[in-house]
Amino acid sequence: MNKDYSDFLGMVKELGALDQIGGLLTWDEETYIPPGAVPDRAIQKSALTGIVHERLTSRKLGRLLSALKKNPHLNGDQKVVVREMARKYKRATAIPKELLQEISKTESLAMQAWVKARKAKDFKSFEPLLKKMLGLKAKVAECVGYEDRPYDALLDEYEPYMKTAEVEVLFSRFRDKLVPVVSKILECETKVDESPVKGDFPEEKQRQFLLEIVKQIGYSLERGRMDVAPHPFTVGSMRDVRITVRYDARDLRPAIFGAIHEAGHGMYDQGYLEKYYHTPLAEAISLGIHESQSRMWENIVGRGLPFWMHFMPKLQAMFPSMNNVAVGDLHRAVNTVKKSFIRVEADEVTYNLHVMLRFEVENAIFSGRLRTPEIPQFWNERFENYLGLKVPDDAQGCLQDIHWSIGAVGYFPTYSLGTIYATQLYDKAKKDLPGLEDQFAAGNFGGLLGWLRTNVHNQGKRYGASDLIKRVTGEGLNEDHFLRYLKQKYGAIYGISL
Ligand code: CO
Repeated sequence: MNKDYSDFLGMVKELGALDQIGGLLTWDEETYIPPGAVPDRAIQKSALTGIVHERLTSRKLGRLLSALKKNPHLNGDQKVVVREMARKYKRATAIPKELLQEISKTESLAMQAWVKARKAKDFKSFEPLLKKMLGLKAKVAECVGYEDRPYDALLDEYEPYMKTAEVEVLFSRFRDKLVPVVSKILECETKVDESPVKGDFPEEKQRQFLLEIVKQIGYSLERGRMDVAPHPFTVGSMRDVRITVRYDARDLRPAIFGAIHEAGHGMYDQGYLEKYYHTPLAEAISLGIHESQSRMWENIVGRGLPFWMHFMPKLQAMFPSMNNVAVGDLHRAVNTVKKSFIRVEADEVTYNLHVMLRFEVENAIFSGRLRTPEIPQFWNERFENYLGLKVPDDAQGCLQDIHWSIGAVGYFPTYSLGTIYATQLYDKAKKDLPGLEDQFAAGNFGGLLGWLRTNVHNQGKRYGASDLIKRVTGEGLNEDHFLRYLKQKYGAIYGISL
């Protein structure tokens, strides 16, 4: 191996290891940390972030990258690692330290202000700090640079290579097709009975059932574990990928679907190739692709009838109160559609309208069409148009999410991109794997996982998300897969033609 490349790879792998360490610190902080240790953890994490930033912006890395970019002898894998590290290096060196410090200071102030404002349902008290935070993000966009729109530079952090204009066109098409489907389902007379999933379900028994599910679908507990966290998440890579869940003793859904969702994320992170460990070839392409994995397993597989044909007897063995419930009734109960104000409580049908609205707010702000004081009005008008609900107060409207207070602008679109990627990939998997859903009914999920391993997981960051989708499915991003899926599934559940 070329000397420059092996020096470079040493640095890359060390950065990868530091990143894993950061993940473990976060995992511990969200699960088992003693309350007294919380202030120390903030200091530890900030020390680690400092070290990572120093190495990522070091002259040595810059020198190696510019030499390697001109080196004609690199193989395909090496070129990908150089390309991706060059992107990280460019972004890290473009943003001055003072700006980062200003953002992190504003973040804690804005988050405190957001918590208070949400409680008091008072957007006005949060607005000045929100304006400041968005102004700082606009500065970040100027530092990082963009070809077309400032928002591109922010979106790129979460969905690399994706352009604002692409999302704009895709989402407006998607929204226009989705709104009438949603209103038809919401207006229909059929009421789905949710009582099968409500009752008394002790946490320890739920845990046993979840472990059975996640193991069966292919999440490795040899290289992972499942713990409790108030806001479930997944962290880690390859041989150490941890998922978290939260339990509701009165309702089976949060834990079951939360666990399948996180296991979907987890199987992606467990699925990179060993030889690429700690390099960008063993990293997720984007948040959107990550979310496509969790949503495919949670919604398409986990909320599907074949899945429950396999798991129903196991559920009944665990909870004898379920003995009188028919599998079809359970299937309906886990697929209820309801109007709601809160994004994180929304079902898969209405969810994307919540998300696209947030993208519209961000996009309007960063294209100079909307000022921060006007956000509530903009939000409430559109919310009513899309979901037919009048927002009663800002806590149930534009103040509900933490994202903007911590400067996570450009993050929201990845949720809906994930939905679109998920159904498009799944349709191709179904074509490639005849009898796929019969396999699910027989408790066999290895066919789908194997397909995802080859086509998605093993690729790491080799391709951008749109490129990967095109290579795998043979077509560009197409929201019709999702719409077809919705119409079929919910047409049957609600007995209506969509
Ligand atoms: Co997720």
